[in-house]
Amino acid sequence: MADDSPKSVVNGLLGHLPPWPRKQLSNSLIAMEQACRQREGLPLLSDADIAALKAGQPMQWESGDAASTPASTGAPPTPAPAAAVAAPAAPAVAAATSAPSGAISEEVAKWVAAGKKWSKSSIAAEQAHRGRKGLPALNDAEITALLGEPLTPATAPAAAAPSAPAAATAASAPRPAAAAATVTASAAASVARGGDATKYVGTPAVGTSKAVAGAGVASVGPEDNEINRQRRRLVWSTVAAFLAAWFIAFFRFFLPRTLFEPATSFKIGYPEEYGLGVDTKFQQKYRIWVDRTPDRLFVIYARCTHLGCTPDWKASENKFKCPCHGSGYDSEGVNFEGPAPRPMDRAHVEKSPDGQILVDVSRLYQWPKGQPSQFNDDGSYLPV
Ligand code: FES
Repeated sequence: MADDSPKSVVNGLLGHLPPWPRKQLSNSLIAMEQACRQREGLPLLSDADIAALKAGQPMQWESGDAASTPASTGAPPTPAPAAAVAAPAAPAVAAATSAPSGAISEEVAKWVAAGKKWSKSSIAAEQAHRGRKGLPALNDAEITALLGEPLTPATAPAAAAPSAPAAATAASAPRPAAAAATVTASAAASVARGGDATKYVGTPAVGTSKAVAGAGVASVGPEDNEINRQRRRLVWSTVAAFLAAWFIAFFRFFLPRTLFEPATSFKIGYPEEYGLGVDTKFQQKYRIWVDRTPDRLFVIYARCTHLGCTPDWKASENKFKCPCHGSGYDSEGVNFEGPAPRPMDRAHVEKSPDGQILVDVSRLYQWPKGQPSQFNDDGSYLPV
């Protein structure tokens, strides 16, 4: 079956590598191959294989040395560990026990002791990084330890100790024994610690840290990375904004509801600025019309005397017309049609010290029906 694939040979797994004869391979190419094998769950290249690839030499199993091949269980053959070549007569597990690839370096032991969990992709990235830098790749024991739960410093050496067959078997099993590749890394790590193959899945809930610790599982919270920090900031900003809005609404309740009305007394300019007739420029602002006749100037308060609507000035008809019920007023605000009972009121006017017209709409002059007119009282007009 192995011969069916152009990428595999009888005594080893060629993977994505070019077949022999080939030139020297660069560190980056070897690192890419390691990363691909890591992703695809294939046995990694051993240190001896990497050295041979860098030197442009055939790998051990490519040279036809059958004694150097590892035991195969029917699955795709794997490259032989370097230690296996040195001791061909030893059983695969025993050879792996003394192999350099089974030892956990101090650096990896520190990582494991620090409790940081590694994913397969992060380990592949580390392998690629080491390949680029020309550093030795992570061996199986190190990968197993990094993938599993955190190891204590006391258990880290045990994974590589020759006197601990069970631990060494688990640590080095994925490479020499192809069948063992099906064993998950976390389970192997559990066996390596000599404990039960129990794996905690998910994030420990708050309050279960003792139970988790009792089960031999480290309680690791969410990583303190930039994304998590941004999420926390967003949550706290939302909470703060909600509380601020709530407090503003709460204190606003105690403030008085003030209605700001326009001033009732104001200046509207000089008498010379107004020509004969009706001027509507202050209708919107002060609700008045300025009316000038040949001998006087007065201010009409723009409110219908029927029910209080604001009439419109119809210049073409020279009259005011109330839109509500049709009352009509002449150009001086005197009613002549419709339900309006009397002429529109006039506001108090006087000259201010600066010569401008000062209007006070709080003081109105009226001409009630059947009663004397106030339109000739002092203050109801300005003589011009
Ligand atoms: Fe003006 Fe009725 S309110 S006519």
